[in-house]
Amino acid sequence: MKIGTISDLHIDRPSDYTETEYAETLAQLTQDHQLDVLLIAGDISNDYRKSYQFVKAMQRLTYKEILFIPGNHDYWQVDDKTTHQIHEFFMQQPECLMGHPYIINDEWAIVGNSGWYDYTYASPEYTTERLERRRFKGATWQDKVHVDWGMSDIQVSHKAAALAKRDLQKAGDRKIILATHVVTTPSFRVPMPHRIFNYFNAFIGTSDFEPLYHQYNIQYSLMGHVHFRGETERAGIEFACVSLGYFREWRTKDIEREMSHALKVIEI
Ligand SMILES: [Fe+2]
Repeated sequence: MKIGTISDLHIDRPSDYTETEYAETLAQLTQDHQLDVLLIAGDISNDYRKSYQFVKAMQRLTYKEILFIPGNHDYWQVDDKTTHQIHEFFMQQPECLMGHPYIINDEWAIVGNSGWYDYTYASPEYTTERLERRRFKGATWQDKVHVDWGMSDIQVSHKAAALAKRDLQKAGDRKIILATHVVTTPSFRVPMPHRIFNYFNAFIGTSDFEPLYHQYNIQYSLMGHVHFRGETERAGIEFACVSLGYFREWRTKDIEREMSHALKVIEI
């Protein structure tokens, strides 16, 4: 069985390619790799309706199992919906992994959770109060403007990890492929010292998943959010960051090449 994971497609950002071309290219890659499951680890777009339409389009184009978790951008408020209403919308969709892990067989399961950032990846020079302002050197962290959970980011992160823990329990003693949107290992934060990311790393990842790696049989941990691609291994767990990222960040302007580079394929 082959499982492909990619994140941070950001199909509605300025690009030389149309949203349809994003879907068609990803569908072609799904066929080329003969994937059985395609998992999108968040940040399809800035509009939950468009993001979910993309999931449905991928089903129509591939006839494969398409799974996803929302990213922070997918939670951006549109259409007078609150963040909680958008969250409820996602939770109700059968392709959304949160609340219902995907049991592959007796041996393997896929668990997914957006996660949320808990400020622990910032440089310790900044207090929580300073980080809660989510504004630094004239730049505002855009979730401050577009997302409102009605609680602190630290609390959102705790709640997300608690839900992930429940889903891991549902998977029993199976080997786990875990997908999150935010980063769960400091290896993938922006290297410091950094002029602005000493501050903005606060919003990249969380430490709340750390105990889960010790308690459950997680073999793979896949994530996005930070527009970086890479892999690292820690205590027998393979961590991978699978972001496509913004068009302007691509090394080439070739969508097929960039998607192919970002896509992580696991064969079990
Ligand atoms: Fe993100």
